[in-house]
Amino acid sequence: MFPSEVTDFFRTQKTPFYYYDMDVLNTTLNEIREHGISKGFRVHFALKANNQPKILEKIKEAGLGADCVSGGEVQRAIDSGFTPDEIAFAGVGKSDEEMELGLKHDIFCFNCESTQELEVLNELAGKYGKTARIALRLNPNVEADTHKYITTGLNENKFGINASDLDEVLAMLPALKNLKLIGIHFHIGSQIEKFTPFEELCIKANALNDHIEEKGFELSVINVGGGFGINYGHPNDNSVPDFERFFGLFEQNINLKDHQQLHFELGRSIVGQCGSLISRVLFTKYGQTKNFAIVDAGMTELIRPALYQAAHRIDVLTSSRAEEKYDVVGPICESSDTFRTDISIPKVERGDLVAIRSAGAYGEVMRSAYNLREANPTVYSDEIG
Ligand code: LLP
Repeated sequence: MFPSEVTDFFRTQKTPFYYYDMDVLNTTLNEIREHGISKGFRVHFALKANNQPKILEKIKEAGLGADCVSGGEVQRAIDSGFTPDEIAFAGVGKSDEEMELGLKHDIFCFNCESTQELEVLNELAGKYGKTARIALRLNPNVEADTHKYITTGLNENKFGINASDLDEVLAMLPALKNLKLIGIHFHIGSQIEKFTPFEELCIKANALNDHIEEKGFELSVINVGGGFGINYGHPNDNSVPDFERFFGLFEQNINLKDHQQLHFELGRSIVGQCGSLISRVLFTKYGQTKNFAIVDAGMTELIRPALYQAAHRIDVLTSSRAEEKYDVVGPICESSDTFRTDISIPKVERGDLVAIRSAGAYGEVMRSAYNLREANPTVYSDEIG
């Protein structure tokens, strides 16, 4: 829970707004340094999870690189101080302009997903007299056991090159003179809470690594992507994911060759727990079958519940009354604009403040202006008081 001075400050702010606890972010980054970076792993932060310049600055300072999926993200990474050799560019549909931007800056690596993409990148690199470093994104056909919208490593998904096409792609590469293959890349999905999918990924990655090296290619980068899940129901502010176990799993299960480095691209597990969406109760409605707490944040500010049926913990910051059961809903004219159904929280009244937790990843970045809603300024813990 927040200290009372923080809640007092919140009362003066225009809601809804995103609040980031920079201490939680720092603790998370320290864990990543201790259990990942110190083992020689390279960790890239997936900007798609959060692209607030102030957050990026801290992540950069901690020694992480940037994983980008659009020209806008590549530019944001550069503007936030990441050097080009710290930037990877992934994505199943990169436009020519976006590839040109990456080439112009000579970024570390393009993660490529199709033969056509390789051909176009080769042509563009030639046009600019550059050699593009590439990693092949391979689809390992591993079931990530997560929501179907965020499963990415099955043959039926649009992502990556299927194992059956790999030899054909490898055969093409020598003719693509402006590309240099430096690695392989995987990403099986997001919000993965069990460890077995990652173990399965390691088995597939090891086999593919051996296969490609046996064909005479030297891979220096083995990138196992992101996907590490967080606890959306965490009871306190400091529920940092177990990075020791996560990195330890890969350390044990990936067979790195001497010239290889293990790379990760994590988003949610780095920024998820440091962010909360602070909202005010507008009205309460007590009905025959349901009670509603109508808050001023909606699916426009946090779409995850509507899109993935995500259940974010909700804390009431200004009431310690006896508990009542509510559906906590937003003001948008869609029934999916519901944060939680039938949750027991202290009875709320108009004006009470609530914190919707674990909203630091895929929260603010996915907000929309639907219903012409305006964004209120973001608040950072180290700027209060
Ligand atoms: N690498 C690639 C290629 C990805 O597609 C993603 C996420 C990541 C890394 C980072 O994954 P993470 O560590 O954050 O799980 N909007 C959804 C999540 C979409 C994830 C897309 N890709 C949500 O709110 O749950």
